[in-house]
Amino acid sequence: MSQVDREALVAEAMLAPSVHNVQPARWRLAGADGLQLFEDPGCRLTVGDPGGNDAGISLGAAAEGLRLAAGRVGLVLVPAEPPAAEPGLRPVAGYRLVPSEEAPDPLASHVEARRSWRGTFAKPGAADREAVSALACENAAVLVDPEVLGGLARRFDRASFGFMHDRDFRGELLSWMRLTPRHPRWSRDGLNAEAMAMGRVEAWGAGLLLGRSFAAFDRIGLARPLLAEGAKVASAAGLVVFHRPSDEAPFDSGAHFYRLWLRLEAADFGAAVLAALADDREAAAEVARIAGVPGGRRVVSAFRIGRRPAGAMPERARRPIGEVLV
Ligand SMILES: Cc1cc2nc3c(=O)[nH]c(=O)nc-3n(C[C@H](O)[C@H](O)[C@H](O)COP(=O)(O)O)c2cc1C
Repeated sequence: MSQVDREALVAEAMLAPSVHNVQPARWRLAGADGLQLFEDPGCRLTVGDPGGNDAGISLGAAAEGLRLAAGRVGLVLVPAEPPAAEPGLRPVAGYRLVPSEEAPDPLASHVEARRSWRGTFAKPGAADREAVSALACENAAVLVDPEVLGGLARRFDRASFGFMHDRDFRGELLSWMRLTPRHPRWSRDGLNAEAMAMGRVEAWGAGLLLGRSFAAFDRIGLARPLLAEGAKVASAAGLVVFHRPSDEAPFDSGAHFYRLWLRLEAADFGAAVLAALADDREAAAEVARIAGVPGGRRVVSAFRIGRRPAGAMPERARRPIGEVLV
């Protein structure tokens, strides 16, 4: 296999979702047909993700992205010796790319189109709710009742605000936000204003609110309503609750997370992750109860989904290949 072929596969793998779009995966071409996956620990969210759960999910999604990309060109991933530890890189997995007769995974054809949709969805009709209900599977419970969504929208805002109240959490989030196209990393990583569905004024306001002015806004009771996003949850066509075995490693859950998101895309739904519903323990317990998540499984994440209004899709911000090949 040529170097260029493998670089193209890595570039496709990098289209996978990652927390705050930090893109923690680093790749090394090994030998004639190998690829090694590392984590860049410098991308860890030490405040928001101290245990590395979100990093693990992100790395698992990237690995699944590689598997899907390889399948499209008639290759399968065979586990190989993981790389050795080295300064500044945490070894995650090693693979060999081997020719195969297997048909490509149909989900691979949705990789290019999938991206977060953080705007408001089109008003859902009965057919949309039915299509959402049809997405229920062994890894996903779905909720479509508008009253239930309204309740969970309030729960989401409470959980989110709980995290946002922590100054260090806000600081870390802000450090990954690119609030103006002048930011040097606007199209490379993190969350840019366009991806967050913010106009210029909103982006400027978000910088103020999450930065030094938070305490002032909070004192007069404005921080919470200004940060509230529940209305977008309440008006979604449905909520998809992603659950996996409680003892599963986040890396393994990450592959299923990406596959579920691609299934949503295949059904022509836009989706935004609502991690606060899974990360806040009380919220996760309530979601699990309402959605009927079976015992022994944990709520790993949740999505609000709906039909995207016609119009331009946000450009995807991704690191150039030179930043991820090590
Ligand atoms: C573990 C994990 C947690 C995430 N949490 C959130 C979240 O709370 N809110 C959100 O809007 N997006 C969340 N995302 C989505 C990422 O921000 C998104 O995938 C990333 O910015 C890349 O953009 P893309 O999905 O458009 O490719 C999460 C993704 C992962 C993998």
